[in-house]
Amino acid sequence: MTNWNLSLHLCFLLSLSVILVHCRRNVLFLVSDDMRPQLPIYYGPDFPTPVHPPMHSPNLDMLASKSLLLKRAYVQQAVCSPSRTSLLTGRRPDTTHVYDLVKYFRNVGGNFTTIPEYFKQQGYRSIGMGKIFHPGRASGNDDPISWTEPYFHAPNLGLYGTRNHSWRAVPRSEYEEQPLPDTQLADNAIKVLRDVAPAALRGEQNFFVAVGFHKPHLPFVFPEDFLAYYPIESIRLPDNEFAPVNMPEIAWVSYGELRSYYDILKLNASGNPNTSLPNDVVINLRRAYYSALSHTDDELGRVLQELENLGLANDTIVSFWGDHGWQLGEHGEWCKHTNFEDAVHAPMMIHVPGVTDKGLVTERLTEFVDLFPTLVEAAELEPLPLCPENSDQIGLCREGTSLMPLMRDPTMEWKEAVFSQYPRSKNGLSIMGYSIRTDQYRYTEWPGFSGPPAYKPEWETMFGVELYDHNSDPEENYNRADDPKYATIRNKLRDQLRTGWRKFLPPV
Ligand SMILES: *[C@@H]1O[C@H](CO)[C@@H](O)[C@H](O)[C@H]1NC(C)=O
Ligand SMILES: *[C@@H]1O[C@H](CO)[C@@H](O)[C@H](O)[C@H]1NC(C)=O
Ligand SMILES: *[C@@H]1O[C@H](CO)[C@@H](O)[C@H](O)[C@H]1NC(C)=O
Ligand SMILES: *[C@@H]1O[C@H](CO)[C@@H](O)[C@H](O)[C@H]1NC(C)=O
Ligand SMILES: *[C@@H]1O[C@H](CO)[C@@H](O)[C@H](O)[C@H]1NC(C)=O
Repeated sequence: MTNWNLSLHLCFLLSLSVILVHCRRNVLFLVSDDMRPQLPIYYGPDFPTPVHPPMHSPNLDMLASKSLLLKRAYVQQAVCSPSRTSLLTGRRPDTTHVYDLVKYFRNVGGNFTTIPEYFKQQGYRSIGMGKIFHPGRASGNDDPISWTEPYFHAPNLGLYGTRNHSWRAVPRSEYEEQPLPDTQLADNAIKVLRDVAPAALRGEQNFFVAVGFHKPHLPFVFPEDFLAYYPIESIRLPDNEFAPVNMPEIAWVSYGELRSYYDILKLNASGNPNTSLPNDVVINLRRAYYSALSHTDDELGRVLQELENLGLANDTIVSFWGDHGWQLGEHGEWCKHTNFEDAVHAPMMIHVPGVTDKGLVTERLTEFVDLFPTLVEAAELEPLPLCPENSDQIGLCREGTSLMPLMRDPTMEWKEAVFSQYPRSKNGLSIMGYSIRTDQYRYTEWPGFSGPPAYKPEWETMFGVELYDHNSDPEENYNRADDPKYATIRNKLRDQLRTGWRKFLPPV
């Protein structure tokens, strides 16, 4: 018997004895940057674009096979910091007041308790690395109050951060000399797990370890070996390289993020609706994105394997999410920054040992704000109260709902609608695109937006309306907002959108 097995045993025996030693569950909190749900496990009629080519993601597939897979999880805003801030505080952008990559929720929203901070307050060792919060100003440098130990970043993050190439397959000789950032991150995660394991196994101190991988974010930099999973002749063009028919201009983004890389910039692409990048560029970008995704899967697999090796897997909740979706040329659109399904639909799965081991899949509509209360309940801690209308003075509350009931019955009645938003500005005016997803429809309105201090939509000033019928049009190619056949449902969705999320909490 190894020491660890012995201590696991001890912990088990102690928890049975009269002495109240509570062997609570640890949390491994895994994050990926810009990963759309392009995984074989998502395959099915509800995925907007069928998963193609066959993806190489054995580790995420394996994690999903023992998790609750949230097949229809939606982010609250499809860009990094607003999405992450919302998930990490359990509150929506109109509460955090973070809509960009600069503002820090503690300055503009409130002194809200984050997920890692909460576990820290519960006596956990709370250790973060890589991209969990948006780094820099947007998080006061990774929100130091959230962690019990110094924060870790891969030392050579800048080295592979080229602005010249939107993607790059790194030769073996090079990455063996200088490991890629996500490789360094996985190495560090393994080291940290070894460090926290003994105390966790003895039931002395639990851990919350957060690992934020950087890929498949631009530039798509990955070990060249991964290209072999995606032969170039197997890569297809998107079948809808055109803006949705009757799309209001305000819905569009000209994907400046991608066009800022020198190899794309020199193509002189305008980024306007109904223009597209040359076919070979589209094919290569898609291939590189898939390869980068597989690279992340690979590094994440090493961390999961270490959790197993250390004998921690049965006592550790594992959550995985990607911070939003990604448009890979569908509609001729790229990156995120929109309210389209491809931008707001993102991967999420949660393994709760002893609860989800056989693998559960739910098709119910869920939101990223649901993760905070889920982890709290999965760790058997006090449930969080629902936030009141104005919660800026309240440190700890939730605007989502624990997903644990779906682990008991993945088909139970759940949220009838979920909500996302995205800001725009036009001629100096602030606009906010509010989007509601129901089982069948996506409906979006782009009203004026007051900004601070009220942060309220101005419904009487409208810049565009969209309605997509996912039953007949899963790719969102036809905006039906002005189609008389849809007038009744449009009115209903408008009321639902303006009523907001509070009226759509699940019946639990
Ligand atoms: C924010 O809240 C935390 C407790 O969650 C507290 O320790 C800290 O002092 C507060 N910060 C400010 C600036 O009020
Ligand atoms: C990036 O491209 C610019 C313009 O062609 C060139 O001057 C520069 O040397 C390149 N940098 C790297 C790191 O390749
Ligand atoms: C884009 O192309 C579609 C399909 O051809 C067309 O219906 C639509 O009006 C075009 N949109 C714009 C903004 O040009
Ligand atoms: C892009 O524009 C520059 C400057 O106008 C021109 O020299 C270059 O040939 C253009 N490239 C392409 C691919 O059209
Ligand atoms: C972990 O749990 C699984 C499923 O309940 C069980 O088969 C396995 O033996 C457990 N492993 C350890 C190390 O306790």
